[in-house]
Amino acid sequence: MQYFKRIIDLHKYLSEARANGLTIGFAPTMGALHAGHMSLIHDSKQQNDRTICSIFVNPTQFNDPADLEKYPRTVAEDLDLLYDHACDVVFLPGVAEIYPQEGFHTPELDFEGLTDVMEGAFRPGHFAGVAQVVYRLLNIIRPDRLYMGQKDYQQWTIIHSMLDQLQLPIELVMCTTVREPDGLAMSSRNRRLTPEFREQAPILFESLSACLEAILEGSKDYRHLEKIAKEAILTAGLEPEYFQIADGYTLQVAHPAGLSKRLVICVAAWAGEVRLIDNLYLDL
Ligand code: PAJ
Repeated sequence: MQYFKRIIDLHKYLSEARANGLTIGFAPTMGALHAGHMSLIHDSKQQNDRTICSIFVNPTQFNDPADLEKYPRTVAEDLDLLYDHACDVVFLPGVAEIYPQEGFHTPELDFEGLTDVMEGAFRPGHFAGVAQVVYRLLNIIRPDRLYMGQKDYQQWTIIHSMLDQLQLPIELVMCTTVREPDGLAMSSRNRRLTPEFREQAPILFESLSACLEAILEGSKDYRHLEKIAKEAILTAGLEPEYFQIADGYTLQVAHPAGLSKRLVICVAAWAGEVRLIDNLYLDL
Protein backbone atom coordinates (compact mmCIF):
# COMPACT_ATOMS: atom_id res chain seq x y z
CA MET A 1 0.00 0.00 0.00
CA GLN A 2 1.30 3.43 -0.89
CA TYR A 3 0.28 6.68 0.68
CA PHE A 4 0.56 10.24 -0.54
CA LYS A 5 0.07 13.56 1.15
CA ARG A 6 0.76 15.71 -1.88
CA ILE A 7 -1.23 15.98 -5.07
CA ILE A 8 1.91 16.08 -7.18
CA ASP A 9 3.03 12.65 -5.91
CA LEU A 10 -0.42 11.17 -6.31
CA HIS A 11 -0.58 12.50 -9.87
CA LYS A 12 2.67 10.75 -10.71
CA TYR A 13 1.24 7.46 -9.48
CA LEU A 14 -2.05 8.03 -11.31
CA SER A 15 -0.53 8.94 -14.65
CA GLU A 16 1.58 5.79 -14.57
CA ALA A 17 -1.48 3.68 -13.73
CA ARG A 18 -3.45 5.29 -16.55
CA ALA A 19 -0.60 4.87 -19.02
CA ASN A 20 -0.83 1.15 -18.22
CA GLY A 21 -4.57 1.19 -18.93
CA LEU A 22 -5.56 0.49 -15.31
CA THR A 23 -8.99 1.48 -13.99
CA ILE A 24 -9.25 3.50 -10.78
CA GLY A 25 -11.88 3.17 -8.05
CA PHE A 26 -12.10 5.89 -5.40
CA ALA A 27 -13.63 5.96 -1.91
CA PRO A 28 -13.55 9.37 -0.18
CA THR A 29 -13.69 9.27 3.65
CA MET A 30 -13.08 11.41 6.70
CA GLY A 31 -11.22 8.63 8.53
CA ALA A 32 -12.09 6.93 11.83
CA LEU A 33 -12.59 3.99 9.52
CA HIS A 34 -14.75 0.95 10.25
CA ALA A 35 -16.24 -2.03 8.42
CA GLY A 36 -18.73 0.26 6.61
CA HIS A 37 -15.86 2.12 4.94
CA MET A 38 -14.13 -1.18 4.22
CA SER A 39 -17.14 -2.36 2.21
CA LEU A 40 -16.44 0.55 -0.18
CA ILE A 41 -12.82 -0.61 -0.52
CA HIS A 42 -13.98 -4.19 -1.02
CA ASP A 43 -16.46 -3.27 -3.78
CA SER A 44 -13.93 -1.03 -5.49
CA LYS A 45 -11.28 -3.73 -5.48
CA GLN A 46 -13.68 -6.12 -7.16
CA GLN A 47 -14.48 -3.69 -9.97
CA ASN A 48 -11.23 -1.79 -10.59
CA ASP A 49 -7.52 -2.44 -11.08
CA ARG A 50 -6.50 0.10 -8.44
CA THR A 51 -8.36 1.42 -5.38
CA ILE A 52 -7.72 4.78 -3.75
CA CYS A 53 -9.07 5.86 -0.38
CA SER A 54 -8.80 9.47 0.76
CA ILE A 55 -8.85 10.51 4.40
CA PHE A 56 -9.64 14.19 4.87
CA VAL A 57 -11.75 15.71 7.64
CA ASN A 58 -13.29 18.41 5.50
CA PRO A 59 -13.78 21.59 7.56
CA THR A 60 -16.19 23.19 5.07
CA GLN A 61 -18.93 20.60 5.65
CA PHE A 62 -19.14 21.03 9.42
CA ASN A 63 -21.80 23.57 10.27
CA ASP A 64 -21.05 23.00 13.98
CA PRO A 65 -17.44 23.85 14.99
CA ALA A 66 -17.74 21.60 18.07
CA ASP A 67 -18.59 18.64 15.82
CA LEU A 68 -15.48 19.30 13.71
CA GLU A 69 -13.32 19.51 16.80
CA LYS A 70 -14.73 16.31 18.31
CA TYR A 71 -14.60 14.38 15.04
CA PRO A 72 -12.51 11.26 15.82
CA ARG A 73 -9.06 11.20 14.20
CA THR A 74 -7.41 7.78 14.21
CA VAL A 75 -4.98 7.83 11.28
CA ALA A 76 -2.63 5.06 12.51
CA GLU A 77 -5.53 2.61 12.99
CA ASP A 78 -7.06 3.73 9.68
CA LEU A 79 -3.86 2.91 7.80
CA ASP A 80 -3.68 -0.53 9.47
CA LEU A 81 -7.26 -1.28 8.45
CA LEU A 82 -6.69 -0.14 4.86
CA TYR A 83 -3.50 -2.20 4.71
CA ASP A 84 -5.39 -5.28 5.98
CA HIS A 85 -7.94 -4.76 3.22
CA ALA A 86 -5.24 -4.40 0.59
CA CYS A 87 -6.20 -0.87 -0.43
CA ASP A 88 -3.68 0.22 -3.07
CA VAL A 89 -3.34 3.92 -2.30
CA VAL A 90 -4.26 6.23 0.59
CA PHE A 91 -4.45 9.96 -0.09
CA LEU A 92 -3.97 11.99 3.10
CA PRO A 93 -3.97 15.64 2.05
CA GLY A 94 -3.61 18.60 4.40
CA VAL A 95 -6.10 21.47 4.33
CA ALA A 96 -3.76 23.66 2.25
CA GLU A 97 -3.52 20.95 -0.40
CA ILE A 98 -7.29 20.73 -0.81
CA TYR A 99 -8.01 24.44 -0.33
CA PRO A 100 -5.01 26.27 -1.78
CA GLN A 101 -4.74 29.97 -1.07
CA GLU A 102 -5.01 30.78 -4.75
CA GLY A 103 -8.41 29.03 -4.70
CA PHE A 104 -9.84 26.72 -7.34
CA HIS A 105 -12.76 26.82 -9.67
CA THR A 106 -16.03 25.40 -8.33
CA PRO A 107 -18.86 25.10 -10.81
CA GLU A 108 -22.34 26.52 -10.24
CA LEU A 109 -24.70 23.69 -9.39
CA ASP A 110 -28.45 23.57 -8.91
CA PHE A 111 -29.58 20.74 -6.69
CA GLU A 112 -33.27 21.52 -7.12
CA GLY A 113 -34.38 21.07 -3.53
CA LEU A 114 -32.21 18.01 -2.79
CA THR A 115 -30.07 20.08 -0.43
CA ASP A 116 -32.91 21.90 1.35
CA VAL A 117 -34.60 18.98 3.08
CA MET A 118 -33.71 16.64 5.96
CA GLU A 119 -29.92 16.89 6.56
CA GLY A 120 -29.85 20.09 4.52
CA ALA A 121 -32.54 21.69 6.67
CA PHE A 122 -30.83 20.81 9.94
CA ARG A 123 -27.22 21.34 8.81
CA PRO A 124 -27.18 24.54 6.74
CA GLY A 125 -24.20 24.70 4.38
CA HIS A 126 -23.29 21.06 4.99
CA PHE A 127 -23.97 19.82 1.45
CA ALA A 128 -22.31 22.80 -0.19
CA GLY A 129 -19.16 21.75 1.71
CA VAL A 130 -19.59 18.09 0.73
CA ALA A 131 -20.12 18.92 -2.95
CA GLN A 132 -17.12 21.28 -2.88
CA VAL A 133 -14.71 18.73 -1.43
CA VAL A 134 -15.95 15.79 -3.51
CA TYR A 135 -15.67 17.92 -6.67
CA ARG A 136 -12.13 18.88 -5.69
CA LEU A 137 -11.14 15.29 -4.93
CA LEU A 138 -12.65 14.02 -8.18
CA ASN A 139 -10.77 16.68 -10.06
CA ILE A 140 -7.52 15.56 -8.48
CA ILE A 141 -8.09 11.81 -8.85
CA ARG A 142 -10.37 11.52 -11.90
CA PRO A 143 -11.47 7.98 -11.04
CA ASP A 144 -13.48 5.67 -13.27
CA ARG A 145 -15.77 4.75 -10.38
CA LEU A 146 -16.73 6.50 -7.15
CA TYR A 147 -17.85 4.47 -4.11
CA MET A 148 -20.22 5.97 -1.55
CA GLY A 149 -22.45 4.46 1.12
CA GLN A 150 -26.21 4.17 1.30
CA LYS A 151 -25.77 5.17 4.96
CA ASP A 152 -25.62 8.78 3.70
CA TYR A 153 -28.43 8.41 1.20
CA GLN A 154 -29.04 12.14 0.73
CA GLN A 155 -25.31 12.77 0.22
CA TRP A 156 -25.23 10.01 -2.41
CA THR A 157 -28.20 11.55 -4.23
CA ILE A 158 -26.59 15.00 -4.25
CA ILE A 159 -23.28 13.68 -5.57
CA HIS A 160 -25.22 11.73 -8.19
CA SER A 161 -26.89 14.97 -9.24
CA MET A 162 -23.51 16.74 -9.34
CA LEU A 163 -21.99 14.09 -11.64
CA ASP A 164 -25.06 14.33 -13.81
CA GLN A 165 -25.07 18.13 -14.02
CA LEU A 166 -21.36 18.25 -14.85
CA GLN A 167 -21.61 15.25 -17.18
CA LEU A 168 -18.59 13.72 -15.50
CA PRO A 169 -17.73 10.27 -16.88
CA ILE A 170 -17.60 8.69 -13.43
CA GLU A 171 -19.81 5.82 -12.34
CA LEU A 172 -21.24 6.34 -8.86
CA VAL A 173 -21.70 3.08 -6.95
CA MET A 174 -23.94 2.85 -3.88
CA CYS A 175 -22.61 0.45 -1.23
CA THR A 176 -25.12 -1.11 1.17
CA THR A 177 -25.14 0.10 4.78
CA VAL A 178 -23.04 -2.10 7.04
CA ARG A 179 -24.58 -2.61 10.48
CA GLU A 180 -23.59 -3.85 13.93
CA PRO A 181 -25.20 -7.19 14.88
CA ASP A 182 -27.99 -5.30 16.72
CA GLY A 183 -28.82 -3.24 13.61
CA LEU A 184 -27.08 0.04 14.46
CA ALA A 185 -25.56 1.48 11.27
CA MET A 186 -21.79 1.67 11.61
CA SER A 187 -20.58 5.23 11.92
CA SER A 188 -17.39 6.99 12.98
CA ARG A 189 -19.54 8.82 15.52
CA ASN A 190 -20.68 5.60 17.28
CA ARG A 191 -17.46 5.47 19.25
CA ARG A 192 -18.55 8.67 21.03
CA LEU A 193 -21.79 7.10 22.33
CA THR A 194 -22.05 6.51 26.09
CA PRO A 195 -22.75 2.84 26.99
CA GLU A 196 -26.37 3.82 27.83
CA PHE A 197 -26.98 5.50 24.47
CA ARG A 198 -25.13 2.74 22.62
CA GLU A 199 -27.66 0.31 24.06
CA GLN A 200 -30.63 2.44 22.95
CA ALA A 201 -29.26 3.49 19.54
CA PRO A 202 -30.61 0.44 17.60
CA ILE A 203 -34.08 2.02 18.02
CA LEU A 204 -33.30 3.97 14.83
CA PHE A 205 -32.97 0.83 12.71
CA GLU A 206 -35.90 -0.78 14.56
CA SER A 207 -38.22 2.14 13.87
CA LEU A 208 -37.09 2.35 10.22
CA SER A 209 -37.71 -1.39 9.81
CA ALA A 210 -41.14 -1.18 11.48
CA CYS A 211 -42.10 1.72 9.20
CA LEU A 212 -40.94 -0.15 6.08
CA GLU A 213 -42.85 -3.22 7.20
CA ALA A 214 -46.03 -1.15 7.72
CA ILE A 215 -45.73 0.36 4.22
CA LEU A 216 -45.21 -3.12 2.74
CA GLU A 217 -48.33 -4.28 4.56
CA GLY A 218 -50.28 -1.52 2.84
CA SER A 219 -50.36 1.22 5.46
CA LYS A 220 -51.17 4.49 3.66
CA ASP A 221 -50.99 7.10 6.38
CA TYR A 222 -47.32 8.05 6.03
CA ARG A 223 -47.56 11.00 8.42
CA HIS A 224 -49.00 8.74 11.11
CA LEU A 225 -46.19 6.21 10.59
CA GLU A 226 -43.65 9.01 11.00
CA LYS A 227 -45.34 10.12 14.22
CA ILE A 228 -45.30 6.60 15.71
CA ALA A 229 -41.61 6.22 14.83
CA LYS A 230 -40.67 9.54 16.43
CA GLU A 231 -42.54 8.57 19.60
CA ALA A 232 -40.69 5.24 19.77
CA ILE A 233 -37.35 7.05 19.37
CA LEU A 234 -38.25 9.54 22.11
CA THR A 235 -39.36 6.73 24.42
CA ALA A 236 -35.92 5.11 23.97
CA GLY A 237 -34.37 8.36 25.23
CA LEU A 238 -33.11 9.71 21.90
CA GLU A 239 -34.13 13.09 20.50
CA PRO A 240 -35.39 12.79 16.89
CA GLU A 241 -34.73 15.70 14.53
CA TYR A 242 -36.68 14.23 11.65
CA PHE A 243 -38.19 10.94 10.59
CA GLN A 244 -39.27 11.34 6.99
CA ILE A 245 -40.84 9.12 4.36
CA ALA A 246 -39.58 10.78 1.19
CA ASP A 247 -39.45 10.18 -2.55
CA GLY A 248 -36.22 8.23 -3.16
CA TYR A 249 -35.21 10.44 -6.10
CA THR A 250 -36.44 13.97 -5.33
CA LEU A 251 -36.16 13.53 -1.53
CA GLN A 252 -39.36 15.55 -1.12
CA VAL A 253 -42.07 14.43 1.32
CA ALA A 254 -43.78 11.35 -0.14
CA HIS A 255 -47.54 10.90 -0.32
CA PRO A 256 -49.23 7.51 -0.65
CA ALA A 257 -51.14 8.70 -3.71
CA GLY A 258 -47.96 10.08 -5.29
CA LEU A 259 -46.01 8.67 -8.21
CA SER A 260 -42.86 7.72 -6.31
CA LYS A 261 -41.00 4.78 -7.82
CA ARG A 262 -38.79 4.57 -4.77
CA LEU A 263 -39.41 5.57 -1.17
CA VAL A 264 -36.65 6.36 1.26
CA ILE A 265 -37.25 6.55 5.00
CA CYS A 266 -34.67 8.76 6.66
CA VAL A 267 -34.04 9.49 10.30
CA ALA A 268 -31.73 11.76 12.29
CA ALA A 269 -31.65 11.77 16.07
CA TRP A 270 -29.47 12.88 18.94
CA ALA A 271 -28.22 10.16 21.27
CA GLY A 272 -26.98 12.48 24.00
CA GLU A 273 -24.27 14.59 22.37
CA VAL A 274 -23.98 12.40 19.30
CA ARG A 275 -26.06 12.92 16.17
CA LEU A 276 -26.91 9.72 14.31
CA ILE A 277 -28.54 9.19 10.91
CA ASP A 278 -29.87 6.13 9.12
CA ASN A 279 -32.26 5.19 6.32
CA LEU A 280 -33.93 2.35 4.44
CA TYR A 281 -35.31 2.48 0.94
CA LEU A 282 -37.95 0.57 -0.94
CA ASP A 283 -38.44 0.26 -4.70
CA LEU A 284 -42.12 0.22 -5.57
P1 PAJ B 1 -17.50 9.51 6.01
O1 PAJ B 1 -18.57 9.77 7.00
O2 PAJ B 1 -16.15 9.13 6.50
O3 PAJ B 1 -18.02 8.38 5.04
C1 PAJ B 1 -17.26 8.00 3.93
C2 PAJ B 1 -18.08 7.06 3.09
O4 PAJ B 1 -18.36 5.86 3.81
C3 PAJ B 1 -19.46 7.67 2.70
O5 PAJ B 1 -19.74 7.39 1.35
C4 PAJ B 1 -20.40 6.96 3.64
O6 PAJ B 1 -21.73 6.86 3.15
C5 PAJ B 1 -19.75 5.58 3.75
N1 PAJ B 1 -20.19 4.90 4.98
C6 PAJ B 1 -20.14 5.38 6.24
N2 PAJ B 1 -20.70 4.49 7.09
C7 PAJ B 1 -21.11 3.43 6.35
C8 PAJ B 1 -21.77 2.20 6.65
N3 PAJ B 1 -22.13 1.87 7.89
N4 PAJ B 1 -22.03 1.37 5.63
C9 PAJ B 1 -21.69 1.69 4.34
N5 PAJ B 1 -21.06 2.84 4.00
C10 PAJ B 1 -20.78 3.70 4.99
O7 PAJ B 1 -19.33 10.83 4.07
C11 PAJ B 1 -18.25 11.38 4.32
O8 PAJ B 1 -17.28 10.80 5.08
C12 PAJ B 1 -17.89 12.76 3.77
O9 PAJ B 1 -19.04 13.54 3.66
C13 PAJ B 1 -17.14 12.70 2.42
C14 PAJ B 1 -17.99 12.09 1.31
C15 PAJ B 1 -15.82 11.94 2.57
C16 PAJ B 1 -16.78 14.16 1.98
O10 PAJ B 1 -16.00 14.79 2.93
